[in-house]
Amino acid sequence: MTMRRSEAYILIMCYRPIGVFDSGVGGLNVLKIASELMPNERFIYLADKARMPYGVRSVREITTAATECAGILVGMNCKAITVACNTATEVAIDTLRSLFPSVIIVGLEPAVKPCLRELGSNGYAVALVTEATAASVKFESAVKKSDGKIKAVPLHALASVIENNDINSTAVRDCVSAVLKPYPDAEAVILGCSHYTSVTRIIREIYGGNIKIYDGAYGEAARLKYCLSVAGLSAPTEQTGSVRFYSTKKRQGV
Ligand code: DGL
Repeated sequence: MTMRRSEAYILIMCYRPIGVFDSGVGGLNVLKIASELMPNERFIYLADKARMPYGVRSVREITTAATECAGILVGMNCKAITVACNTATEVAIDTLRSLFPSVIIVGLEPAVKPCLRELGSNGYAVALVTEATAASVKFESAVKKSDGKIKAVPLHALASVIENNDINSTAVRDCVSAVLKPYPDAEAVILGCSHYTSVTRIIREIYGGNIKIYDGAYGEAARLKYCLSVAGLSAPTEQTGSVRFYSTKKRQGV
């Protein structure tokens, strides 16, 4: 049986890599989950360390940064872009989708809806986010709709503290403790920045294990898998999965 041109085209598309980007190490958790869910895919991870932190930047700067990252990944022949950053998703995903219409683009959003579904009637949740996410239209409206059940906590420095320190250091622990101190009776914490996933264990310890934690990372990876499958672009099972890492920041001394 001969293969039609369109079938051959789809087959070639399947082998193309998937781009994942964040301002730094935060998106590595999304990458880990995605590569476990899709072991045959080839991933390219781009850390925009030259412009980290995104969370303190203007809408314009974040949109430019996200557009450049997506452009680099599209230039590397990616079939899909995974925005593994809540800030870039909230601020720039619509722009990315209009600029790169032929590529699947999935984003990372604070898991407000799943949290609200499971929150007790008298409980409240703390949504830890960057300043830019807190100010974004999408996030603001999600919080407004929650009727006070979601308390948004815009954080200026936590992502940078996590990026630049050992996760087990006192600097990181002290920063997380200070952030959560005003909310000793919270029922849940929403991790609204991909960097914060790394401090899940610390958050649990602070609340003595008595806290629900919501992270959008798994949802994003599952959505990516679904979109690839619907488009017929999942990697063939004979392909061996891999990950390549890139950064926009040159290493010192290199
Ligand atoms: N990791 C990013 C996020 O999910 C932003 C961290 C930053 O660069 O400020 O929002």
